[in-house]
Amino acid sequence: MSIAPAFRTAATQATFVDITVDGRSLRVVADSTLAAALLAAGIDRFGPGLAPGQTMQPFCLMGTCFQCIATIDGIAHQRTCRVVVRAGMDVRLAGALPG
Ligand code: FES
Repeated sequence: MSIAPAFRTAATQATFVDITVDGRSLRVVADSTLAAALLAAGIDRFGPGLAPGQTMQPFCLMGTCFQCIATIDGIAHQRTCRVVVRAGMDVRLAGALPG
C-alpha cells in the first residue's frame, strides 16, 4: 500500500521548487524533506526491493529503515527522508541506471 496519496493532499497549498529526478525535471513541494516532496509528486517507487517483484519505498520517514535512499547531487546512499529539498537538486533513485 502506498502512502503517497496523503502527501499529495498536503501539497495543495504549498510552494514549489524545480529539481531533477532521474534526468527529468520535476516541480516538488519546497521546505519539506525530499522523500515527502517525491511522495507528494506521486513518486513512491524508489528502487527495487530485496524480494523479487517488490519495490523500495519510504517506510519510517525518520531515517532508520533506509528504504528511501537515493543519490543526491552525486553523493550516493542519501536517506531522502533526512534531506530538505532545495531548488536544482539532482536526484537519482536507487533503481536508476548511472549516467
Ligand atoms: S524512510 Fe526510512 S530511512 Fe528514510
